[in-house]
Amino acid sequence: MFEGPFGASIVSRAIRDELVEITIHQLRDYTKDRHRTVDDTPYGGGAGMVMKPAPLADAVQDLKKDASDSGQLQPHVILLSPQGRRLDQNIAKELASRDSLILVCGRYEGVDERFIEALVDEEVSIGDYVISGGEPAAIVLVDAITRLIPGALGSVDSAPSDSFASGLRGKLQGPVYTRPVEWDGREVPEVLLSGDHARLEKWRNEQSDARTRERRPDLLGNEDHKE
Ligand code: ADE
Repeated sequence: MFEGPFGASIVSRAIRDELVEITIHQLRDYTKDRHRTVDDTPYGGGAGMVMKPAPLADAVQDLKKDASDSGQLQPHVILLSPQGRRLDQNIAKELASRDSLILVCGRYEGVDERFIEALVDEEVSIGDYVISGGEPAAIVLVDAITRLIPGALGSVDSAPSDSFASGLRGKLQGPVYTRPVEWDGREVPEVLLSGDHARLEKWRNEQSDARTRERRPDLLGNEDHKE
């Protein structure tokens, strides 16, 4: 599941350039029974399966021990779950500043609460919708964090003008255009061809404000994104 997303583009380059290190661990390797069981039916009944606490705890403890043995800071343990703090650019920044993270991918139906109490530092959700497991959520989180690591973005990858980046102070990015100057009877706005930097800057700000007001009024007055 991770090979594709981590093997392409910005994340794979950051790995190659040793800006990030990512290791994937198979939870079944931490089981002790013949069937390598990682989940079981819920106490009290109900739909779905619940992930057993012991393999998860053994996996996390093993990784924490590796960190101490090699003199690293203790990793911050995150469980991806719809019950978590909802991911946004500020959370991505906060997590990017940490030395190391352990991302635990649960399944939607749940993870035994005792494991969460004992070993999870925080739960993070990628949004108010349900996906079947934490893996795609971990991929999203890794991408959002990796982009923020100095040197991870090449010169052709934008950063400062991305929506939510500090350059836009938490507002949406306005429209962008590339060649040709006319396509399908539609023209590129004249200001973009004018070479007038002051006018261009003003136009971009106006477009960004207008789009934010129209599509995401909840972001306005969101001073948190200001640097
Ligand atoms: N697992 C299932 N849904 C999720 C979500 N929205 N965020 C993080 N992990 C999840």
